[in-house]
Amino acid sequence: MSETPSNDASQRVALVTGAAGGLGREFAIALARRGHRVAGLDLADMSGTADLIGDAFHPVRADVTDPVEVEAAVEETAARFGGLEIVVNNAGIYPPLEFEKTTLDDWRRIMRVNLDGPFLVSQAALPHLKAAGWGRIVNIVSAVVFLGPPDLVAYTTSKSGLVGFTRALASAVGAYGITVNAISPGLTRTDMAARTTGADGGFERVRDKQVVPHVEEPGDLVSTLLYVCDEGSGFLTGQTINVDGGSAMH
Ligand SMILES: NC(=O)c1ccc[n+]([C@@H]2O[C@H](COP(=O)([O-])OP(=O)(O)OC[C@H]3O[C@@H](n4cnc5c(N)ncnc54)[C@H](O)[C@@H]3O)[C@@H](O)[C@H]2O)c1
Repeated sequence: MSETPSNDASQRVALVTGAAGGLGREFAIALARRGHRVAGLDLADMSGTADLIGDAFHPVRADVTDPVEVEAAVEETAARFGGLEIVVNNAGIYPPLEFEKTTLDDWRRIMRVNLDGPFLVSQAALPHLKAAGWGRIVNIVSAVVFLGPPDLVAYTTSKSGLVGFTRALASAVGAYGITVNAISPGLTRTDMAARTTGADGGFERVRDKQVVPHVEEPGDLVSTLLYVCDEGSGFLTGQTINVDGGSAMH
């Protein structure tokens, strides 16, 4: 059932990709608590997120690399909530890979999810943000863009591309009242990170290189997301905000 857009400018409609768990779930909950209505786009089951948020959440099953599914998901979101104004490009994959063993298929899969995904979602969403005359696009990159770890060459390349996408897209859409920014988390305790980069003492090794001496949690990123999406943040655009406990400073 579609709803008419709210006249309360502080209540927006957001789409968060990768909202089934991890950072995406945390972001969806935070945006909903802030009063926004939130659609989640994920390949995986989002019932856990839906149970935590309730009616303000609408899950749409889609693959961010598939243009037809992305277009349908964006249109379903806009129909359900009467528009779309905030896009959080969070879905991503970060398999550790030895460079010399990285296949072209590995490389392309990482680029497809981490770069094609934000391109397709942002492009499909843009007409709605333009129609609102206001928009926030937030790309979740990674502190690896400043650190360049040896086992994440393809991943670092994809997220560095997303930093460039953030800057150029900010220039392309600024005139429509739309900002585009990136947030770069450090290694953050999610289930996926626990299975990959954070495994075998990885969380503790990264923590020991930080200025802030604790393992980063998804909640450590929420205030930055809300700041970037805030009504008052319209002059902040094209930026990459590093939230990694101070292991990289730029
Ligand atoms: N956790 C970290 O340490 C960390 C650090 C820096 C950046 N990041 C970035 O933050 C984002 C979220 O990471 P996370 O740790 O929460 O990971 P996660 O695996 O828990 O969440 C990612 C979500 O994206 C979804 N997804 C993957 N491919 C998809 C596709 N093709 N279409 C739709 N959905 C898809 C997954 O199903 C999953 O629910 C990623 O972009 C990641 O690169 C994470």
